[in-house]
Amino acid sequence: MVDSYNVVVDRLNAFTPADFEGYEVERLKLLSSARKLVNLGIWHRWTAVGGGEKTVEELAKLATKDCDLNLLRRLLRLLGATYVIEETGEDRYKPTDLSLSIGDESTTTAQYILSMAHHWNASFMNLPSFLAKTSYREPLDPKYNNYDSFSGCMMEWSKYRFSWPDFYDTTSLVAGADLASGAPLVVDIGGHHGYDTLTFLKKHPDVPDGSLVIQDLEAVLADANLGTDKVKLMPHIFFEPQPIYGSRAYFLREVFHDY
Ligand SMILES: C[S@@+](CC[C@H](N)C(=O)[O-])C[C@H]1O[C@@H](n2cnc3c(N)ncnc32)[C@H](O)[C@@H]1O
Repeated sequence: MVDSYNVVVDRLNAFTPADFEGYEVERLKLLSSARKLVNLGIWHRWTAVGGGEKTVEELAKLATKDCDLNLLRRLLRLLGATYVIEETGEDRYKPTDLSLSIGDESTTTAQYILSMAHHWNASFMNLPSFLAKTSYREPLDPKYNNYDSFSGCMMEWSKYRFSWPDFYDTTSLVAGADLASGAPLVVDIGGHHGYDTLTFLKKHPDVPDGSLVIQDLEAVLADANLGTDKVKLMPHIFFEPQPIYGSRAYFLREVFHDY
């Protein structure tokens, strides 16, 4: 067995990126096969057996590959400390909604997490050479930057979060608002392509045109396609004075943490 591993390792090491020119599908298939080696399959199987509290030993038995018990214990502790799973006692864990959804192949949660490994971490590593390549100029071109698929990632992520109108009593915002006069109702600052605002609109489809506003960078809004005239897209840099006065609500989500 060891001999055949060595043959495979030698053959893999002999590949260079140039060998895959014109063979992108094959390259991706090979990467996908290699990744299976580092996937213990626990998420999937834990969800498949209906979840439930398990000891480290029980979880090791769920793994599709042999894993050092102490290594698994250390990985589980880290996942417990970050609330991906719940540590219920010494060496005992319960899944959370998030971990069950990682193991549920009908959701794209696992893919979202993989995007961190495939995209975000790669973009962190690429940043020094990207900045050197651009002679340390401020990256202002949205089509030429260190991570240009972020906007798509943001849109997908938005779909799997609770949107504030799903849990906040928005009727109190609408009641008493002077909407007939054309006054703004909600301004979504740094609102990207408006997922939260569209959730609000679904709850209150009769608000007048333009009473919901999404502000974001001009280049970001240029790619937004909301399919409604009810929501006004307003290019605005949020460090500059707010041009809209008297709105019932100003909403910022996942924006402050960046500054
Ligand atoms: C992490 S995303 C959050 C988007 C949205 N609020 C959500 O929760 O889905 C941050 C948003 O802020 C926007 N943004 C970043 N800098 C900005 C600026 N100076 N002025 C206006 N918008 C900005 C980005 O284009 C992006 O859409």
